[in-house]
Amino acid sequence: MNRAEPPLAGLRFLLVGPGRVGESLAAWALARGASCVAVAGRAGSQGARDAAARLGAPLESASDYGGASADLALIAVPDAAISDVARRLAGRFHGVALHVAGPIGASALAPLAAAGCPVGSFHPLRPFPAVERDPEAARGTFFALDGDAQARALGRRLAEAFGGEAAIVPEELRVLYHLAATLAAGGVATVFASAASLAQRAGVPEGARRGYARLALAALEAAAAAADPADAITGPAARGDLETVERQLEALADAAPELKGLVVALARAALERRAETRPLSPAQKALAERLARPELLDRPRDRVLTSKSPD
Ligand SMILES: NC(=O)c1ccc[n+]([C@@H]2O[C@H](COP(=O)([O-])OP(=O)(O)OC[C@H]3O[C@@H](n4cnc5c(N)ncnc54)[C@H](OP(=O)(O)O)[C@@H]3O)[C@@H](O)[C@H]2O)c1
Repeated sequence: MNRAEPPLAGLRFLLVGPGRVGESLAAWALARGASCVAVAGRAGSQGARDAAARLGAPLESASDYGGASADLALIAVPDAAISDVARRLAGRFHGVALHVAGPIGASALAPLAAAGCPVGSFHPLRPFPAVERDPEAARGTFFALDGDAQARALGRRLAEAFGGEAAIVPEELRVLYHLAATLAAGGVATVFASAASLAQRAGVPEGARRGYARLALAALEAAAAAADPADAITGPAARGDLETVERQLEALADAAPELKGLVVALARAALERRAETRPLSPAQKALAERLARPELLDRPRDRVLTSKSPD
């Protein structure tokens, strides 16, 4: 390869499903030297028409694709539509096919595999709330691969060209791989949204509420940097501070009773994560036992205040 040549020079791809992920990946690939031979969307879709114009590629219909040949079909349609799209492309497209879904593997492209195409998956482990065209935004992204050797090799080439990293996440791990992603993204955001809602309903001043965002970011940064993220869990549950946890739940019963399940589950999870790598202290054990029987946490306030932590 010529030294000045961009890393995806010579790669000709077809984009099927020009939505948030599809248009983003296509824009990154174009910026790294690939060329888009066509954009295939749903018949009559204005979104697909607009995306094709932005990407400077001819518009095709995914259901009767008959356009130029390509090395790669990047399939970025909703998860439920992948197999149908693969059926429609089978026999019409003859290169490598990669879909970008997280919870499913290469088997979703079985109709294309049966028609002789190397197939695989290329899942970007990052959120796309909107189209992200800046190729620099791709740096550091993890891409989960699986499928045929040729498909995995092309996935690695793309990931490298985007400045990301890639590894094989086999089909049988996909559901839990994706669930972990859901916890890390939507789960963390849900916990933060619950904290913000509680503070707002309790009447905590606005300035302190902005402080929660900084607190959350600092805690997440510490957990992400730690060799064992459980080491970075702070708060009364992780300390085994039974009395504080009981007082918090007591106050919650008036302010936001629907959050009790989440608070108890998080406290239990904090202790379970700790217990995975070291023995719990007597105070942590006592709290874990109490949390295993949440009905004991519903006691009236006078009894809560007289309860004693074992140490
Ligand atoms: N969004 C994320 O954060 C994220 C992150 C990683 C991976 N993913 C994965 O990326 C894939 C696409 O998700 P997205 O968020 O980009 O969805 P999206 O923004 O809704 O885009 C989906 C695109 O597919 C098109 N489409 C739908 N059915 C089609 C069909 N039968 N034939 C051709 N095109 C069709 C849609 O066209 P219309 O606009 O005309 O309906 C739209 O252009 C999914 O597999 C998803 O799991 C998403």
